Amino acid sequence: MGIFDGWGVEDSSYNSHNGYNLYNRKYMKRLLSGITPSGDGSLHIGNYLGAVKQFIELARPSTSSGQAPLECFLMVADLHALTTVQDKAMLQKNTETLILNELALLGNLTNPVGPSRSPSGSIRSRLTERSDGAGVTFFRQSDVPEHTELQSILNNVTPLGLIKRAHAYKDKLQGEASEEDINMGLFCYPILMAADILLYKPDLVPVGKDQKQHVEITRDIAGRFNKIYKKNIFKLPEPYIPEEVAAVLGTDGKRKMSKSLGNVISMFEDEEIIRKQVMSTYTDPTRIHANDPGHIEGNMVFIYLDYFGQKTINNELKEAYRMGQVADVEVKNYLYETLMKFFAPARNSYQELVKNPSMVQKILQDGAEKARMVATQTMTQVRDAIGLINSYSVAAKNQITIEEFARVELRVGKVIEATNKEGSDKLIRLMVDFGPEKRIIFTGVRGFGYIPEDFLNKQFFFITNLKPRKMVDEESQGMILAVDSEKDKKPLFVSAEGMPVGAKIR
Ligand code: TRP
Repeated sequence: MGIFDGWGVEDSSYNSHNGYNLYNRKYMKRLLSGITPSGDGSLHIGNYLGAVKQFIELARPSTSSGQAPLECFLMVADLHALTTVQDKAMLQKNTETLILNELALLGNLTNPVGPSRSPSGSIRSRLTERSDGAGVTFFRQSDVPEHTELQSILNNVTPLGLIKRAHAYKDKLQGEASEEDINMGLFCYPILMAADILLYKPDLVPVGKDQKQHVEITRDIAGRFNKIYKKNIFKLPEPYIPEEVAAVLGTDGKRKMSKSLGNVISMFEDEEIIRKQVMSTYTDPTRIHANDPGHIEGNMVFIYLDYFGQKTINNELKEAYRMGQVADVEVKNYLYETLMKFFAPARNSYQELVKNPSMVQKILQDGAEKARMVATQTMTQVRDAIGLINSYSVAAKNQITIEEFARVELRVGKVIEATNKEGSDKLIRLMVDFGPEKRIIFTGVRGFGYIPEDFLNKQFFFITNLKPRKMVDEESQGMILAVDSEKDKKPLFVSAEGMPVGAKIR
């Protein structure tokens, strides 16, 4: 099909921005992951260390690591949350919180959109400008309807037995729940997750240990689909589970950090709450007085400091602690200060985001658009492979032949008169010279701040074989070509300066 030798890399529309290299047939590796807003949506330092940090490092590896950046897709898996969160307000709140938490942590890695669109240094640019890495396409699962569409299709190549063996369902059944208590959403969870993954053809799927089986099921489903339809549509993804970050223990020093166990240290809560969490951290139970020699091993304060603090200071503190020269409250204070400093940029971003809902919407809109570009392409391949596309499909009609396209007459014209059209607050009336003939052509762009002088004596591209259309009291004899700007869809006009007036474009 394509010029590339791997599957999933035929989508040539990505050449320009994601680093696929036509010449040595190497392409930027792609990564996809998701977080379900099933808890209250707020992340703690365990989530940061166990998931978000890895993601950031893969999206923008430090130059010293010698690693190439990966193209990352990160979604808020709100449809997955429906298996357990069946309360409108709660789902909204959880999802909103998770979005703000993730965006605040990702900072300027989110939804890179090319050159500066706002004064650099502003929060807007921090969050949206393209950074040196490929960036993270951040989106909400339910904004990309292809996820559920693909799930429906995958249902048919997924054996019942495969899903019955999935932990999520089996564990629940072995617990207190009966089949009556388990909904089909939970049962089919691995198929939706397979759809999430396969749509984007990622190389790697970073997940926690508990999700490894779901990635294996995804590989199984992908393999079956490819085999049944004799086409390598889906790439078999690899789970990516960095060993050293598998589990961050909670402040009780015993169990994995988890909101439901109440052993977390938060990142975006009020300072007083975080201070309390830090102060309750498990240290050395054998140490009674501040001048008793203390133990470092299993002491959660030092374990957290190893992640966030400065090595030399940490080492000095450890030494002093062992010698009984520093009190618990002092090392805890230092941990608190360290965390506040470490997360200060993210906490600031969080506040900015809370104050600017339209900015958050914009990021999600850009993310959904980018995700859909990939997802719809995969769906076209899937629909084609399974036979949904036939000679009567609207999708097939949507495509036109080169001959059909050649019927569009596109010409260079020079605007020789431009005035606001009386009786309209949108229209600008252009008199356009095409060499042998002149035409009246309207453009409805005053609402975007355009004035007649923006067009006067300039050359643009026009379509000149449209059926005339009446505007107010005159016919428009063609259409000027414009490009949507990403910002607010303000149309941009393509200059045809220097081109021969009247020339046809073919
Ligand atoms: N099921 C995952 C979890 O609970 C979240 C998730 C949904 C996901 N879709 C995904 C993770 C796709 C990786 C890839 O953690």
